[in-house]
Amino acid sequence: MKRIINILIIVLISLSIQAQHDYNKKYYPPTDPLVVQKLEQWQDLKFGLLMHWGPYSQWGVVESWSICSEDEGWCKRPEEDYISYKKKYEGLQNTFNPTQFDPGKWAKAAAGAGMKYVVFTTKHHDGFCMFDTKFTDYKITDSKTPFSKNPKANVAKEIFNAFRNEGMWAGAYFSKPDWHSPYYWWPNFATPDRNVNYDVKKYPERWENFVQYTQNQIMELMSDYGKIDILWLDGGWVEKMNADQVKAYVTAPDYKFMHIQNQDVRMDELAAKARQLQPGLLVVDRAVEGPNQNYLTPENQVPKEMLAYPWESCIIMGGGWSYSFDAQYKSGRELVHMLIDIVAKGGNLLLNIAPSPKGTWDDAAYQRLQDIGKWMDINGESIYGNRKSAPYQEGPVYYTRKKDGSALYLLYCVKEGEKMPEEFKVTGIEPGKKPTIEVLGFKGKVNYVQSGKSMTIKVPKSIVRNNDFSYALVFRVK
Ligand code: GLC
Repeated sequence: MKRIINILIIVLISLSIQAQHDYNKKYYPPTDPLVVQKLEQWQDLKFGLLMHWGPYSQWGVVESWSICSEDEGWCKRPEEDYISYKKKYEGLQNTFNPTQFDPGKWAKAAAGAGMKYVVFTTKHHDGFCMFDTKFTDYKITDSKTPFSKNPKANVAKEIFNAFRNEGMWAGAYFSKPDWHSPYYWWPNFATPDRNVNYDVKKYPERWENFVQYTQNQIMELMSDYGKIDILWLDGGWVEKMNADQVKAYVTAPDYKFMHIQNQDVRMDELAAKARQLQPGLLVVDRAVEGPNQNYLTPENQVPKEMLAYPWESCIIMGGGWSYSFDAQYKSGRELVHMLIDIVAKGGNLLLNIAPSPKGTWDDAAYQRLQDIGKWMDINGESIYGNRKSAPYQEGPVYYTRKKDGSALYLLYCVKEGEKMPEEFKVTGIEPGKKPTIEVLGFKGKVNYVQSGKSMTIKVPKSIVRNNDFSYALVFRVK
């Protein structure tokens, strides 16, 4: 019996090593020295802004998905005939007029919160371009769109410039699938799902037109919009696949009605061309295993553990990715704790705010940014330029460490309505050292008692008495 248990344990351990290995294998580190360097710098930034904005915002519905004929919750649309619904959806172009658009105000608020980069939806799956492309009239700068008359009509350009003026990096979200392009959804056929709706092998010229269309638009973004730091490509089902990979999809037990096929837009070529125009550009071909995904992007979730490669969680601040009229926003405390959890695990947080059809943000969004900013002003040094440090968490305490090892930070997250305790124990400080410990934003040294591997930190009395100090108290250990 004991032998069987032993064998079982060995099998389980080797299976888990295998699983771990598969997990790590999904990341391909860059080799271009400029990309390596930029990726390192990007990991110092920690905190960015994502925005989903388009004509769909007028209805307060999900971005793009309501024109996709999949039986999924996020594809919900009113029960009416699909053709007339899609016409109305596309007709939203004719009324999109966000006259209160003021990207300078957004950029200032984002910078005030300590955000260091922006990623903006230049084109979502529905194909509507929020930039002035030459290759379609389904765009914000076309005369059919009322906002085209506004001097700030090329909103992508305005946003990138405004955020750069505040010292932030610029990232272009771009959807590879395009549900408006006749080269992706050929009007000759119905559109059963998110995929290309014709057989790419049978109509190679049509597909080649799509590849050209995609590459041309991305080159426009790389040429005419100043310095672009990140090309954030969504729609991972548009990917190069060999026959075996397609078969693996189609025969998977959870395979539904997704008409997967090889949808090769020649990403290697595209990334190389883009980097000729934007040296060192970070390319994030989301969810596509391979060298064109410089960092990974867990969606609307924080990974449970530290990850062994560069990553960024994109997370909604309130409502959905796109504007909703009744959005409930996460609290400032929740957001700061989430940022801490992510940074302690070695990631970045890309926080989504959805602009309204008028071109404004909800007051609640500004309020949250201010709340975060107040905390960051005092505690930012425990966030930026740090790397993960085991054990990244012990109860309410999270760890970060300066890249060069010059300081360790203990970030004590205080729950709503809770007080700082008079003392707490940690085990992540090297035994034998006699460090100096200070609380960021407070004068004076912190007392502690070391015993073996663990250290009891005595929280200064003035802090314990004052319950109103912060969402998280940061102890710098040097
Ligand atoms: C999901 C949504 C997509 C959105 C993305 C952002 O994939 O379906 O619409 O753009 O999340 O991460």
